[in-house]
Amino acid sequence: MDSFELNKIVGALLGTVFVVFSVTLVADALFAAHSPETPGYAIEAAEGNVGGPAEVEETVSIAALLQDADPAKGEAVFRKCQACHTPDKGGANKVGPNLWSVVNRPIASHEGFSFSSAMREFAGGGSQLWDYDHLNEFLLNPKGYIRGTAMAFAGLKKDPERADLIAYLRTLADSPAPLPEAPAAETESAAAAEGDAASAGNAEPAAGAEPAGDAEPADENSN
Ligand code: HEC
Repeated sequence: MDSFELNKIVGALLGTVFVVFSVTLVADALFAAHSPETPGYAIEAAEGNVGGPAEVEETVSIAALLQDADPAKGEAVFRKCQACHTPDKGGANKVGPNLWSVVNRPIASHEGFSFSSAMREFAGGGSQLWDYDHLNEFLLNPKGYIRGTAMAFAGLKKDPERADLIAYLRTLADSPAPLPEAPAAETESAAAAEGDAASAGNAEPAAGAEPAGDAEPADENSN
């Protein structure tokens, strides 16, 4: 190997070192980390909603919806639940707990079923019942309402469909819980709304809103 050959090799080496060095410099300059003024990630939290149930979409009150709900239609809707839930008295727990007499039963209390910790926490040590409001919000958006629930179900977004289903769940009992009283203001506006049908997708174009006759003067359902 003559000295010319050696020069070429040394030159090539130096060249490589030079290229690597400058690439590193440029890369450093390009990807320099800008440290934020305060270390950590900024987390935007909605105010006034810390620790409570997750924010849910605005809903029509279930008390109003249940006035026109049809348990027979609800039974058909329940097919969506059947993969995971039995509806009959003494029925087995499947992926989810048996739902006989679920209305007003303490949350996460059903025997022989191992509830998620999210659901057990939500139950407040037995103080929370599956009243109509909880059922309504939960079935609208299970994972939104009880974050971390093991119930892998997207939710029933259509108000009338959900109301029919809840009316059906109510029938799954030896003595069904009383229906909630129709909130006065809302029945009126609901009746008015029924006039211009369009909004209520698949609500039947009922011949005039029923007079509140069959709404039992229910015992105050306070919760
Ligand atoms: C893919 C399976 C699955 C489907 C579909 C499903 N659920 Fe569930 N459900 C569960 C599981 C699992 C739990 C227990 C959740 C937990 O522990 O977090 C549950 C819990 C519940 C509870 C609470 C019961 C209690 O005793 O506290 C109710 C009420 C309920 N489901 C109603 C329904 C209804 C109504 C439908 C149909 C619209 C439905 N679920 C569809 C799996 C399912």
